[in-house]
Amino acid sequence: MKERGFSTRAVHTRIAPTAVPSRPLSVPIYQTASFEFDDTEGLAAAITDLTQGHCYSRLSNPTVDALERGVADLEGAEGALAFASGMAAIHGVLLASCQQGDHIVAPRAAYGGSFAMMKNVLPRYGITTTFVDNGDHEAMRRAMQPNTKVLYAETITNPNLRVADIPALAEIAHEAGARLVVDNTFASPYLARPIEQGADLVVHSASKYLGGHGDLIGGIVVGSRAHLDAAQHLLIEVGGTMAPFVAWLVLRGIKSLAVRMRQHCATALRIAEWLDKRDDVTNVAYPGLPSHPDHALARRCLPTGFGGMIAFELADAARVVAFMDRLQIVARAGSLGDAHSLVIAPAHTTHRQMSPEERAGAQIADGFVRLSIGLEDADDLIEDLAHALA
Ligand SMILES: Cc1ncc(COP(=O)(O)O)c(C=O)c1O
Repeated sequence: MKERGFSTRAVHTRIAPTAVPSRPLSVPIYQTASFEFDDTEGLAAAITDLTQGHCYSRLSNPTVDALERGVADLEGAEGALAFASGMAAIHGVLLASCQQGDHIVAPRAAYGGSFAMMKNVLPRYGITTTFVDNGDHEAMRRAMQPNTKVLYAETITNPNLRVADIPALAEIAHEAGARLVVDNTFASPYLARPIEQGADLVVHSASKYLGGHGDLIGGIVVGSRAHLDAAQHLLIEVGGTMAPFVAWLVLRGIKSLAVRMRQHCATALRIAEWLDKRDDVTNVAYPGLPSHPDHALARRCLPTGFGGMIAFELADAARVVAFMDRLQIVARAGSLGDAHSLVIAPAHTTHRQMSPEERAGAQIADGFVRLSIGLEDADDLIEDLAHALA
């Protein structure tokens, strides 16, 4: 055959086949938009039936698929779907669960972005939400309507660290014919597996503990295949797919999830106990402290640890900004679940889109501070906090 031209050869470079079969130990990054088929029949089969093969990375991709199978396994679920962000995952699961005219019941104190989506975005599709006090099961029961399709919860709430009683919430949801959707971002599957406790669907911001290094944005929905099917159609038709490189970063992150979570929990408990003894700090909220309102529940629902997040208030609320600005190791940054310790004052940042009344309802005072404990030495973190408080 005539030698092909320079440009054709440059475009058609391929991985060489090897004589002895072997495979990569680390999941490769399949950085490709399309997949090539030996014949038209194979392509046609994959386009019409996703189980026949990968054909286009918005529909499915081997790296993303490996992550989905890995997280489903860690959560004790049948399947998972990866999204471009935690918010895309929450949007996907709520839109897949509700039609125009349907209704959601959600806690008043939850991640500000989720609250804003339910309050401002979903009503445009004709989906309304009733917000109730966290942990008020009677109020939840009363709020359930014939058109309620979702009872929404966070395993550990952002930002004030209340713990959800998942088996009790599952009962309330199922009695009313609704699904229990749980955001398990703060706990990670190492600390809690809500599906095993009765939840129908679990969502994660993979940008936090699953990734674990503060270097990606991603989201995951976990559940039974039956529950995931509608979300998968939506994901394919609307887009919002996770990129293969991001999936690879999350796959790398989950390899160390257990060791990281054990360290986050141990350091956070020590710092919470230290903060609790200080006079310049009040209302230290950490589920591992006996003074926490949900401590008994946390011991039951989070048997492997109480997480890496701590919330507290400065006795003098006017000093919040000065306290934050004096920190040298703990970074002023709006995320969590990172190897770096991070601090945020929700009233001034994540929850600023709420009105003062809504913030009061969510128990977010002006002096409220949220700490995400990283993987630094506990002694260094305590010294940094002591210096900033002084
Ligand atoms: C509990 C919780 N859920 C969801 C999200 C949204 O995730 P993402 O930023 O990956 O969209 C966040 C972000 O902070 C969060 O804290």
